[in-house]
Amino acid sequence: MKLPPEEAALLEVRSLQAGYGPVQVLRGVHLQLRAGELLLVLGRNGSGRSTLLKALMGLIPATGRASLAGQELLDLPAHRRARLGLGYVPEQREIFPRLSVRQNLLLGAKPSRTGPSRWNEAAVLALFPALAPRLHAPAQSLSGGEQQMLAIARALMGNPDLLLLDEPTEGLAPRRVAATARLIRQLQEQGLGALMVEQKPWARELADRVIVLGDGLTQFEGPPAELPPDVSAAWL
Ligand SMILES: Nc1ncnc2c1ncn2[C@@H]1O[C@H](COP(=O)(O)OP(=O)(O)O)[C@@H](O)[C@H]1O
Ligand SMILES: [Mg+2]
Repeated sequence: MKLPPEEAALLEVRSLQAGYGPVQVLRGVHLQLRAGELLLVLGRNGSGRSTLLKALMGLIPATGRASLAGQELLDLPAHRRARLGLGYVPEQREIFPRLSVRQNLLLGAKPSRTGPSRWNEAAVLALFPALAPRLHAPAQSLSGGEQQMLAIARALMGNPDLLLLDEPTEGLAPRRVAATARLIRQLQEQGLGALMVEQKPWARELADRVIVLGDGLTQFEGPPAELPPDVSAAWL
């Protein structure tokens, strides 16, 4: 699955700056992610990991450069970025509580831009069988673990080339954490790239590479095994 080094980046981010009104959180983030790669975003709480995903998805304004498969992203609204192949699983899951599970799934549905569309309702239900008997239930009646499955399933329904995953196992019971780790590995083996924020140890075991955010900058980018102790001590 590892691609040769000459393979062009799927996602390329340079000098990315973003924040909230006068508060600048990201001052110059860079990263590269090749197709199929799992890139883990590390940093302390408040270091801007969620801000990075929101800026890439187009939910907050950002300046600098960010491109997906050579297409500039930063000038585009979020729905156009989704059409280009970005899928987003937000930290708060943000499902529509009064809509049914099926309606939530359909809201995420779109064909792949770059190849055959692997994901549809049947395919996501095969991945998350627990959702099948709940298809017509309002999403707010799902357990926390099921809502997390729905958030991932909804993102997959968009047949993304790259998933932005924000702490996908936050608040889950240990059994669900392990199941989610297996799921993400499975998606990775199927060639789906991901930019993931996750603090738990399984994430470093799975990651092809990591970036460390600190002081609004990329402090390290490389394989997890090469993370220097002084970078960990200073920024993690
Ligand atoms: N909506 C917001 N308005 C103002 N400040 C925010 C908002 N969201 C996050 N922040 C601030 O931006 C910084 C980075 O937050 P965030 O990206 O959520 O960090 P992380 O995900 O790494 O924990 C924090 O100081 C946080 O308080
Ligand atoms: Mg966060």
